Amino acid sequence: MKRLDQVLANDGVGAELELVIKDVMVACKDIAYKLAQGELAGILGATEDENVQGETQKKLDVISNDLLKDILIANPYVRGIGSEEEDYTVAGNAGGKYLVTFDPLDGSSNIDVNLSVGTIFSVLEAQDDQSGDNQEVFLQNGRKQVAAGYVLYGPSALLVMTTGNGVNFFTLDRNIGEFVLTKSNIQIPEDTAEFAINMSNQRFWEPEMKQYIDDCLAGEEGPLGKRYNMRWVASMVAEVHRILVRGGIFMYPYDSRDPSKAGKLRLMYEGNPMSMIVEQAGGASSTGRIDIMDVEPKGIHDRVPVVLGSKNEVAKVVAYHSK
Ligand code: AHG
Ligand code: MN
Ligand code: MN
Repeated sequence: MKRLDQVLANDGVGAELELVIKDVMVACKDIAYKLAQGELAGILGATEDENVQGETQKKLDVISNDLLKDILIANPYVRGIGSEEEDYTVAGNAGGKYLVTFDPLDGSSNIDVNLSVGTIFSVLEAQDDQSGDNQEVFLQNGRKQVAAGYVLYGPSALLVMTTGNGVNFFTLDRNIGEFVLTKSNIQIPEDTAEFAINMSNQRFWEPEMKQYIDDCLAGEEGPLGKRYNMRWVASMVAEVHRILVRGGIFMYPYDSRDPSKAGKLRLMYEGNPMSMIVEQAGGASSTGRIDIMDVEPKGIHDRVPVVLGSKNEVAKVVAYHSK
């Protein structure tokens, strides 16, 4: 049995980064225990507030955000944090080397129906001496990430993470309160016939995306020559996890519902960390036109169109966009 800290040490992760990741996990374990208690812990339901994204905050969005924020800004190695649920980035320790961005609770529309949700995090290095409450210090592309991961709160709580040396699965052992290694060197199958997209937005998509999905639906008789299956959990963490386990393609493309937004998902909390994990597992991740990790962020809450998963299927979607 290998604990998370042993695996990190084995991968040559320095003590400072390890302590940052460890603190993220302290918060995630707390979230996992609260989720397991559900209604008993009084954590279900919505608040009366909206976040900066214009979305109603669930109670657990706020609780999870506070757990992560409080522990991380007290960590001596954390310069600052950026969160989906915070209007601005928050300063940590001026001498800290690391910046952490996170989606404290992903798929939060699933909480009240007792389905899978997750936490997504990304770690960057601060490149200069600016304070963590200045968002400029965070505006680095996804290639600069030094660690990325998510915790999937499902029937068991699973940590999936990478520090640039492949992807590992860790399962939370509630008896000892630790994440232990349960699968290593995850590889996403290169081909798939399973897609995940919110079909109800079809009429708002660009013609390239419409065409690809039409061709998937045409099955064996269509130009793609195979019969596709579809899944939609409405929780990116669960969707990406399924893809890591059995392959697939996940898309949240640009749509014209709100033309001012590049997509629904957020680059710094969802797009970049998931892209690092997927690429580290041999998959691919694109906006449909360029690799997500090559997108240069202009603001901490930037949105991005997302197409990720099995390498050869992502390449097909990219080919539709370059026709
Ligand atoms: P969040 O709960 O952090 O706002 O993210 C939800 C995201 C993502 O997890 C999921 O894939 C997608 O939004 C679901 O969108 P629909 O509501 O369109 O199904
Ligand atoms: Mn999310
Ligand atoms: Mn969220």
